[in-house]
Amino acid sequence: MHSENVLGEDISRVLITEEEIDLAVSKIALEIDRDFQKKEKSLLLLGILKGSVVFMGDLMKKLTVPAEIDFMKVSSYGSGVASSGKINILLDIHREDLSEKNIVVIEDIIDSGRTLSYLVDYLKLNGANSVKTCTLLDKPSRRTVEFTPDYYGYEIPDEFVVGYGLDYDERYRSLPYIGVLKSEVYSR
Ligand code: IMP
Ligand code: MG
Repeated sequence: MHSENVLGEDISRVLITEEEIDLAVSKIALEIDRDFQKKEKSLLLLGILKGSVVFMGDLMKKLTVPAEIDFMKVSSYGSGVASSGKINILLDIHREDLSEKNIVVIEDIIDSGRTLSYLVDYLKLNGANSVKTCTLLDKPSRRTVEFTPDYYGYEIPDEFVVGYGLDYDERYRSLPYIGVLKSEVYSR
C-alpha cells in the first residue's frame, strides 16, 4: 500500500536513528553545560528557523545551565535542494542586551558553511559578548567557506537528508529520525 500522506514511505534509508540522535543531543548538552557553568554572562540559545526547532527543543530540555532562547530566520536556499549562495535575513534578532549574552547559534545542518560564518560575524558586529555554534549534522565535504562548529552531533556524507526538523520543500520535518529521500521524490 502506498499513500502520499505517509512520510516514511518516501525515505530510502534511515541514516541516523532516534536513539542515535538522542545520544548526540545528550553529549552536546553535557559539553554546553560544562562550558557555560561558570560564565558570568548568561547563555542565549539562538535557533535558526525552521530546521533547528526540533533539535533545539530537545537540547534545551537536557541542559542544566539556565538558557534563554531566541530565533532568527535566514535563507540561503531557494526551494528544493540547490543553494542560492546568498544569505538573506528574513527575521532578525531584536534585543538590546546582546553584550550581556553568550550566544550559541543552533543549526540543523552545516553544508557550505556560509550561513553560520555569516551569522557569527553578524552577531559579533551587533555586540554579542561571545558567539559559539552548534549543529546536529555536518557535511564537511561540502564547504565553500572554511568553518568548524564548536559543537556537533554527526558528520554525514554528501547526501540530501530530511527529518528531525530538516525539510525538502517544507515536508518531512516531523519525522523523528534522519533519513535519505528516495530519488523519485525530487523528480515528482
Ligand atoms: P549552508 O549555509 O550551505 O551551510 O546551509 C545550511 C542550510 O542548508 C541548513 O540550515 C539547511 O536549511 C540547508 N541544508 C543543507 N543541506 C541540507 C540537507 O541535506 N537537507 C535539508 N536541508 C539542508
Ligand atoms: Mg536551515
